[in-house]
Amino acid sequence: MIIEPKTRGFICLTAHPTGCEQNVINQIEYVKSKGEINGAKKVLVIGASTGFGLASRITSAFGSGASTIGVFLEKGPSAGRPASPGWYNSAAFEKQATEAGLYAKSINGDAFSNEIKQQTIDMIKEDLGQVDLVIYSLASPVRTNPNTGKRHKSVLKPIGDVFSNKTVDFHTGNVTEVTIQPANEDDIANTVEVMGGEDWEMWIDAMKEAGVLADGCQTFAYSYIGPKLTEPVYRKGTIGAAKDDLEATSFKIAEKLKDINGNAVVSVNKALVTQASSAIPVIPLYISLLYKTMKEKGIHEGCIEQIQRLYADRIYGEDMQLDEKGRIRIDDWEMREDVQAEVDKLWAIATTENLSEIGDLKGYSDDFFNLFGFKVEGVDYDADVNEVVEIPSIS
Ligand code: NAI
Ligand code: NA
Repeated sequence: MIIEPKTRGFICLTAHPTGCEQNVINQIEYVKSKGEINGAKKVLVIGASTGFGLASRITSAFGSGASTIGVFLEKGPSAGRPASPGWYNSAAFEKQATEAGLYAKSINGDAFSNEIKQQTIDMIKEDLGQVDLVIYSLASPVRTNPNTGKRHKSVLKPIGDVFSNKTVDFHTGNVTEVTIQPANEDDIANTVEVMGGEDWEMWIDAMKEAGVLADGCQTFAYSYIGPKLTEPVYRKGTIGAAKDDLEATSFKIAEKLKDINGNAVVSVNKALVTQASSAIPVIPLYISLLYKTMKEKGIHEGCIEQIQRLYADRIYGEDMQLDEKGRIRIDDWEMREDVQAEVDKLWAIATTENLSEIGDLKGYSDDFFNLFGFKVEGVDYDADVNEVVEIPSIS
């Protein structure tokens, strides 16, 4: 079939297999071009199909020659209905990894459940014995807690006060004022349930108990801080409360891994266009101004550049350069004073009329479509493609 983007608000309902494959190939080429990283050889990535998790899987495999198991929740294709992008990405990744002689298997299911954890542990036992790196990169709006059976929904709201600021509809470039009512106690608790650290700890507990964590095993999860501008709706909002919890959990996990010489650390990453971040009000406007500024300064990075640098310079570099709260700061270039001063200046004057000039609206929009395999250079979108693509280890 001919597959075209079909957007509804900040989601795209279709994905292009060839475009997704090309994205994966481009990321692999990037990692290879940066040279070998002396990293872990047996790696589990939870949330491995898109965004930072996919970049982590690619960096482990093609930077360090690692065997990888990827866990994710994606929708497979059926005749006439394309799969979700993470499905096509994972199919392409497995194909590339296998061609390169690398072990790669995937598990498609709810990572929050006990069943998927057990299935993953069984696969590790059978195929790899143990893993020496676990990347936790889930982003989800909902979680069913397997201990209580209760389903929680996260929200993106400020805590305490009503928040009003500018935002942009990145499809139209319309800059408007958005007002968000503050969260109640339930909203906060639910968001922490979904995006906090409990599930990460449950994974590590289950894996340690099963003996599938190798001596010296490290685990990393990803967080975000961002500027003052987005603080009320991000870091000091409900999602920030969840990130506080995630970060606090890293110390609990690190303590539990001491006896196997392991470690657990959070890496604070840069703001990027992903399916998760497009849904957060105000953030798209911030990102479009940030992209413009960082590209002008020659320091713009996407997921793969971020994760390649995270591995090469921090995790497997001389020094993780932890901040005063024990976190890796690979958001260092985003948070540079000159970058933030410029974004502040642009933010103050941003309007519908000037945004395409002072902001990188096109960069935002292109990145958004790229997530779904559209607008990828070198792909012939007029060509007939087979939407039914299998993930080799799943079919
Ligand atoms: P993403 O939406 O691209 O990736 C989410 C991944 O989680 C996908 O592989 C998806 O299949 C998987 N997933 C979701 N629900 C699942 C479930 N129930 N079971 C199994 N897999 C499931 O998100 P992104 O942006 O890569 O986020 C990953 C982490 O990075 C999150 O913790 C996020 O907060 C963090 N982060 C994101 C930033 C951004 O600007 N996008 C900045 C800094 C940190
Ligand atoms: Na991810």
